[in-house]
Amino acid sequence: MKPTVWHNLNLCPHGDPDVTILDGAIAVQDDGTIAWLGAQRDLPSLYAGWHREDLKRAWVTPGLVDCHTHLVYGGQRADEFAQRLAGASYEEIARRGGGIVSTVRATRAASEEALFAQSAERLEALLAEGVTAIEIKSGYGLDLESERKMLRVARRLGERYPVTVYTTFLGAHALPPEFAGRADAYINEVCDRMLPALADEGLVDAVDVFCERIGFSLAQSERVFEAAERAGLPVKVHAEQLSNMGGTQLAARYNAISADHLEFLDEAGVLAMIESGTVAVLLPGAFYFIRETQLPPLDLLRRHRVPVAVSTDCNPGTSPCTSLLTMMNMAATLFRMSVPEVLRGVTVHAARALGQAGRHGTLEAGRQADFAAWRVQSLAELVYWFGRPLCSRVVRAGHTVYQMRGD
Ligand code: NIG
Ligand code: FE
Repeated sequence: MKPTVWHNLNLCPHGDPDVTILDGAIAVQDDGTIAWLGAQRDLPSLYAGWHREDLKRAWVTPGLVDCHTHLVYGGQRADEFAQRLAGASYEEIARRGGGIVSTVRATRAASEEALFAQSAERLEALLAEGVTAIEIKSGYGLDLESERKMLRVARRLGERYPVTVYTTFLGAHALPPEFAGRADAYINEVCDRMLPALADEGLVDAVDVFCERIGFSLAQSERVFEAAERAGLPVKVHAEQLSNMGGTQLAARYNAISADHLEFLDEAGVLAMIESGTVAVLLPGAFYFIRETQLPPLDLLRRHRVPVAVSTDCNPGTSPCTSLLTMMNMAATLFRMSVPEVLRGVTVHAARALGQAGRHGTLEAGRQADFAAWRVQSLAELVYWFGRPLCSRVVRAGHTVYQMRGD
């Protein structure tokens, strides 16, 4: 790559719309890292002769970070959606053997190639909206082979596409049918066999548990966290989504990097998160799609200054969505998050939810040049529009990896 100065742009380097540089420039050296950024008029003469790329007055933000996805899975669950429209609840469908377990059947049946192909289509949609880092969970395999298949697909997506993939082992997502009535035995399998093997193979960056009435109990979740600790891996948790079980407090005792969903979180849970520095990941797509009415306790999170991230939760059961921009709009309309909160939620705070604040979510000299250019007049438009393509260019490690037609 030629050393390049990106210019004719407005810059929002920290994902914070209150800190901007009008008529800015970004100098990217040939190794794909940022050499300098600032106002065009201050560009050091050293970079004056570099190749130039005109961003046509676009607003530039750090590449977006989608920090909670189940992007890799087989099949889809439109039929269940129809059942829900006819009156069944998400929980009822899960108890009847549908829900997560029906995606487990489809995921187990899919070849690695087929799984890669259908997941790649979803990933491509996210990349066209400026996502340059993404978390992908397992949890629809629920046996060693199938969990490995999912995680290998996630890793391969990161190799084949211009995006950094962080994998999360979610073996404790649901009870597989062959363990019906034997949840503790399944947790043994997760902790003693699956997690150690997959971690040894380098397929796991973090460990997650679905701590819920239809998922796993506090005691079972704790066993998974202990196993993660033994493997030296950070933990995350799906908690307080359908009820308040105290999963967040438990996860905080294991220094969880994030606690996700959180509609039923109470103040004790929020206080525990501050102690442990745990990021709250809010998932408006799931809230919307299962027609939840309990709002996450945003005022409490604000009052206690817990960092809040926003993500797609892309999955076939509760959030069949491949648009982080749509989630940004929903975080504002449904949760009443402000524009700055939403923008930080998909950049700095999302990076922190992955334990990667040092690598993603802000643009600074020395960091990899991962940024998105937006065809908007103001940053608020990123939260205002929904269903409208806004991303004119995605640059990863200094290379243009996506360009809007006609840009
Ligand atoms: O994040 N809550 C558990 N897991 C997913 C849903 C999974 C599914 O229904 O397939 C979620 O909402
Ligand atoms: Fe999820």
